[in-house]
Amino acid sequence: MVFAGACSSDPNTPNKNTDLIDAKVDSLMSLMTLEEKIGQMNQYSGFMDFTGPRPKEGQQAKKLEHLKKGWVGSMLNVHGVENVMAVQKIAVEESRLGIPLIMGFDVIHGYKTISPIPLAETASWNLEAIQKSAEMAAEEASAAGIHWTFAPMVDISRDARWGRVMEGAGEDPYLGSLVAKARVKGFQGDDLSAPNTLAATAKHFAGYGFAESGKDYNTVDIGTSTLHNMVNPPFKAAVEADVKTFMNAFNVLNGIPATGNKYLQRDLLKNQWDFKGFVVSDWDSVGEMIAHGFAKDGRAAAKYAVSAGSDMDMESYHYIEQLASLVEDGEVSEDLINDAVKRILKVKFELGLFDNPYQYCDEKREKEVIGQQKFHDQVFDLAKQSIVLLKNENNLLPLKKSGQKIALIGELAADKTSPLGNWIIAAEDNSAVSVLEGLEKYDATNEITFENGVKLVTSQPTFAQELKINNTDSAGIAEAVASAKNADVVVMVLGEHGRQSGEGRSRTSLDLPGLQQQMLEAVYEVNPNIVLVLNNGRPLTINWADKHIPAIVEAWQLGSQAGNAIASVLYGDYNPSGKLPMSFPKNVGQIPLYYNYKSTGRPAPKGENEVFWSTYIDSSNDPLYPFGYGLSYTNFDYKNLTIDNRYKEEGKVLVSVEVQNTGKREGIETAQLYLQDEYASVTRPVRELKGFKQVELAPGEIKTIEFELTNAELGFYDNDGEWLVESGSFHIYLGGDSTSQLKQSFQITVK
Ligand code: BGC
Repeated sequence: MVFAGACSSDPNTPNKNTDLIDAKVDSLMSLMTLEEKIGQMNQYSGFMDFTGPRPKEGQQAKKLEHLKKGWVGSMLNVHGVENVMAVQKIAVEESRLGIPLIMGFDVIHGYKTISPIPLAETASWNLEAIQKSAEMAAEEASAAGIHWTFAPMVDISRDARWGRVMEGAGEDPYLGSLVAKARVKGFQGDDLSAPNTLAATAKHFAGYGFAESGKDYNTVDIGTSTLHNMVNPPFKAAVEADVKTFMNAFNVLNGIPATGNKYLQRDLLKNQWDFKGFVVSDWDSVGEMIAHGFAKDGRAAAKYAVSAGSDMDMESYHYIEQLASLVEDGEVSEDLINDAVKRILKVKFELGLFDNPYQYCDEKREKEVIGQQKFHDQVFDLAKQSIVLLKNENNLLPLKKSGQKIALIGELAADKTSPLGNWIIAAEDNSAVSVLEGLEKYDATNEITFENGVKLVTSQPTFAQELKINNTDSAGIAEAVASAKNADVVVMVLGEHGRQSGEGRSRTSLDLPGLQQQMLEAVYEVNPNIVLVLNNGRPLTINWADKHIPAIVEAWQLGSQAGNAIASVLYGDYNPSGKLPMSFPKNVGQIPLYYNYKSTGRPAPKGENEVFWSTYIDSSNDPLYPFGYGLSYTNFDYKNLTIDNRYKEEGKVLVSVEVQNTGKREGIETAQLYLQDEYASVTRPVRELKGFKQVELAPGEIKTIEFELTNAELGFYDNDGEWLVESGSFHIYLGGDSTSQLKQSFQITVK
């Protein structure tokens, strides 16, 4: 039977009307049995390899049976109109109340048309473009029947060993918060019930990016100051942007698994931040509380998770198997179930699923929308902006457009899958434009020869396991060297395969995998005129290259249009403007490495041979490339930093600076404002990003950029999580990266 009110579509009752939706939810809930309510809290993964609509045996049969009973509220990994329709039909037409499923999917950086990996997108520092990228992903994914994306990942991380840094916005909570908002807005749009928007998920709440030793899923033990000031701000920003769902995390946070963490999910998120959406667990994270040594069995796990505020269980089965009897035995109050179900149903109403459970299922739209040229143009645009120029000695770049023999070297240069990066579960392998194709298609008359060089991975990778084995076969180096010998310029595309970063891809070394370093050095011996194009999902340790190679371009994994974007930067059609969202360490021993560190009692080494200072005896403290760093084919100069302190009268401090393009061509610069609160009741970092602005400048042009600092920028969270603004002196640093020395100071008195 189909729930009577479920499919009424009255144009006078817009879904945005919260009271009305609440009333509809209440009325629906009054019809539901306890089992049906718990069913809404149950999420199953789809039938990944099914070719027809119906699952067949074993677990699949059980899932099907539960669908028919109305014991499933959501499915993930079902995509494509035909598949979504088939599953939705079972829920709507065969279950007693016909409550539609909400279909979730990891749309992380595009659905079929793939944007740069999120870390790379962040390097553009272009919030509008990042928002548009999420908008595009929503448009494509929703056309494939998806309602809900498990993105954005807003985990701050200071540890490049952690493979999932590719999915986030890097190390900084201020930038991370703005990117979180942009992505949430992009996915959700202004109207969640429109069929081209998706509900978004802020994940993984919380602390997942602080996994000890950068090892995925590892324990997280951080103090309250770090939790409130570094980890939580992007999550709070997502709530402010009206994100509809949260995902909790696999990790233990300070001894309590995030999934069973009442402080995080109930006290902070739902009460203090007033989050009205629902929390989904991570994949079996409810069940994993047993392995954590927190819950003794599935029953305890279900009880802890629901009590802590995890509303929906992804694939652990413990809710569906345990919650009813927990309620019947009086161990879990039905109020908790009701609260969770209300939250889930509310989002379904907001998505318009009760008006039309198939409104996302239009095969014609699916065909028309997915893979449109305009999406490729947009991805191309953002990919160019995501590239960071790390080094360019003697203006080796841009390349001349004619008369050059170019030796293109490196397996990654011809790879059409790797540029897509990780989390591309709906995109096709071999669908990206490779660097080789990009250069060949480019309107230039150079002679290009390509050599594969050493193999990076043993075979076209389909499984993570293969990627853990870096090939040690040096065959290919000789050919690379021979080809470099005859070239005017060598372009080497080296780094990590797209599937060498991402979930479960932690590394203990951040060097170029396999024998790539050896090949680089061998080529350098015969021709030092090298442009190194890096493809990677995280910061790498490239000291040797930094010392020897004249030009280095950080090109990440840039998605479907990677090769075109790289060609456009190498030839100088696009003047690189990206800035690093994560510090690049000199060596793994420096990790965790981040620009917004705190001073110690012995802050700086006073001289070469001094010992008792907070430093290393075998490395300097500073990164190879700092946060916020990135060069251009032109130069920028900052001057006349002035402060207009109106704090006493108007509660704000105005800052202005002049930026001049001192080079010979137009360019885009991201001016960054860093603040230091000199003395505070809880110590503050040596500097913190508190503002940035992008300006486009013609050669010689000067623009004045203004910033406004209010209590929102001047304060910090104390150890109880309260926002504090304290009297005292502050320093401002302004410039093109986090090491800028252009400084001014001011004082405020807080009454
Ligand atoms: C990841 C999540 C993801 C989920 C569903 C988990 O392994 O941690 O980020 O959304 O799988 O695919």
